[in-house]
Formats: sequence, structure tokens, C-alpha cells
Amino acid sequence: WGGHVHMLTTVGSTQEEAKRLAENGAPEGTTVIAEEQTGGRGRQGRKWHSPFGKGIWMSVVLRPSLPLLSTPQLTLMAGVAVCRAIRRVSGVDVGIKWPNDLLAGDRKICGILLESSCYENELAYCIAGIGISVNLAEEDYPDFLNGVGTSLLIERGGASVDRSVLAGAVLTELDSLYAFYLEHGFSPVARLWEAMSVTLGRQVARNTPQGRMEGLATGLDDNGGLLLMDRSGQIHSVSSGEIELI
Ligand code: BTN
Repeated sequence: WGGHVHMLTTVGSTQEEAKRLAENGAPEGTTVIAEEQTGGRGRQGRKWHSPFGKGIWMSVVLRPSLPLLSTPQLTLMAGVAVCRAIRRVSGVDVGIKWPNDLLAGDRKICGILLESSCYENELAYCIAGIGISVNLAEEDYPDFLNGVGTSLLIERGGASVDRSVLAGAVLTELDSLYAFYLEHGFSPVARLWEAMSVTLGRQVARNTPQGRMEGLATGLDDNGGLLLMDRSGQIHSVSSGEIELI
């Protein structure tokens, strides 16, 4: 990776900053990390709570030559890399909820937002945004997150985690798994994802404008979509959106 790490104090969103750098030709691996985001973004248009000095709020520029259809694979790859880093540095036993939320028990500890930019129907670059709630205490959460979100500090009974060590580990794991993925393809990465998954073997639900669908999560398809078996035994592939573990 030839990219620099840009350390910022306060920023709207590291995603926007990384996008700006990518648009200006920043090489793969260019990383933006901030102490605080005032407009942190989550998936599905949600806000991402990013208080000063308490978490890892970072975005990494990737420039894979992949068909557009394969970008969901990158989402899962990033989840595996971050999961490895968190387990290794903090000892907290996080698992992955499809596609790439990291949970401790049933509370979310880390979210990943992968955004792609296309040029003339080809993938130009991707920005992998990673938000890890590291040293937030219960009182650092706005009320609406209580009971839904957790942090490494909370899961470790009040013991904090060194954010620079963890950020370094995330970048190392991401760099090496990304290289492995480009060399060996998605299939071995999918096996790693399955081993860390808390989704497979569970009954899950998905709400769409067409209605609610429930099924047993049985595996991944070739693009990283989730395979659900409904009550009649029919298999459906879910390629985007949010699922609920039931
Ligand atoms: C999710 O909804 O689970 C994804 C959350 C992604 C948050 C990270 S924090 C760094 C980067 N900058 C943002 O504004 N969002 C991502």
C-alpha cells in the first residue's frame, strides 16, 4: 500500500475526506483517521455517533480492479479483517452479523460502510469506512443507543484499549487480507467469514417495501449475498439491506 495516513482532529466525516483524496488521485491504502466526526454516517442513511477520542473513525481508499457486482465481497472481506484485529488486540469475542456489523453478544460494537464510485460503468475506487466504539462508557451513548450499542471498554469491564495499537492492527489485517483476496479470490475469504459469523444457522428476517421475509440463514452466495431458506425449503439470495436476527 502506498497511501499515507492522514490524522485529523475534527472532521465532518472521514468518508468525505477520503473521497476527496481519492478523487484527487490518492493511492490505494490512503487512510483518513479522525478523533471526532461531527457528521459521521452509517448505512441506510443513519447517523454514526463518533465522539472525540473514544473510538476509531477511519476511512481507507481501495482501488481493486473488480467487476461492480463483486463489491459486496469487499464488504465481507473488510468485516473479517476488522474482526481479526479486534479479537487479537482487545480479546473481545466479536462476531459478524451479515453483511459486516461486528457484535459482542447482541450489541453492536463496530460498523463498516463500503462506498463505491464508478466511472463509465467501471469501478473507480472504493472507500471502506470503519467505525469502532473503543472506549465509550455507557454515559457516552445518547439514550437511543443504550442497549443497542456497546464498546470494547464496556465489554472488558471498564478496561480501555489503546486506540493507536488497534488502528495499526486494523490496517495490517486489512492490508494482508485484501492482498490475499486479490490473489486467491472470494471463496477462501467467504470460509473465514462463515467461521466468524453469528448469522449462519439463525432464523433471520428482512423487511422490504414488498413485505417481510423470514428464513434460515444457510450460507453465502458467490458475491457475498446471504442465502435464506424459507419455510417451503426454497432458497433466496439477499444481496443488500439490513437483516434482523430473530
Ligand atoms: C454502519 O451503519 O454500521 C456503518 C458505520 C460506519 C461508520 C464509519 S466511522 C468512519 C467512517 N466515516 C463515516 O462517516 N462513517 C464511517
